[in-house]
Amino acid sequence: MKGKFIVFEGIDGCGKTTQIDELSKWLPNSGLMKKGSRLITTREPGGSLLGKKLRGLILDTNENNKPSSLAELLLYSADRAEHISKVISPALENNDWVISDRFSDSTLAYQGYGRNINLEIIKNIESIVCQGEYPDLTFFLDISPEESLLRRKNEIPDRIESEGIKFLEKVNEGFKLIAQEKNWNIISASQNIKTISNQIKETVLNNFSNK
Ligand code: TMP
Repeated sequence: MKGKFIVFEGIDGCGKTTQIDELSKWLPNSGLMKKGSRLITTREPGGSLLGKKLRGLILDTNENNKPSSLAELLLYSADRAEHISKVISPALENNDWVISDRFSDSTLAYQGYGRNINLEIIKNIESIVCQGEYPDLTFFLDISPEESLLRRKNEIPDRIESEGIKFLEKVNEGFKLIAQEKNWNIISASQNIKTISNQIKETVLNNFSNK
């Protein structure tokens, strides 16, 4: 029996971090996890030791260090390959539960729909990188690109966050298409924090009780 793998996706500022915090406080006492199972919260990019270094490279705002679109795709892919090999797969094999802030569909949304890299190329790379490890449950926290920018107006943006509204609109459209295609749980993230976290907990219970 493997542990469960839950992923949160959405454009920047959609509230993933807050909701992952809420869920990880509740989950260990929910009765869903087997005795002795641990809960691991992680993220992409940057969920492994090598990944932390890659995250710094990928999100560097220095114009001189800006990767080409293809290099960017491969850097995110390298981060994921390492994350799966060193963190996600070992945890799931050990019966632990994993919550990840972003996974492979962020690449499809940002590099595919956002940067216009051929989706089939991305899916081919993904099939090698993911090593058969896919989420049991994905939440898409849905906010508009306008709200995303508004929520982040006082923060220093990283390289991807600096791309502006047009890029964000393409990424958001991409996420919506993927969410429909993969039958994700779409949560309106403009609701208050408690309402959103209750919806998430209910869905987790519905999906994993007695499984
Ligand atoms: P974060 O701020 O949610 O940690 O993610 C860092 C940025 O990286 C965010 O703007 C989304 C972007 N990103 C991609 O462009 N492709 C990917 O595959 C992933 C995982 C993140």
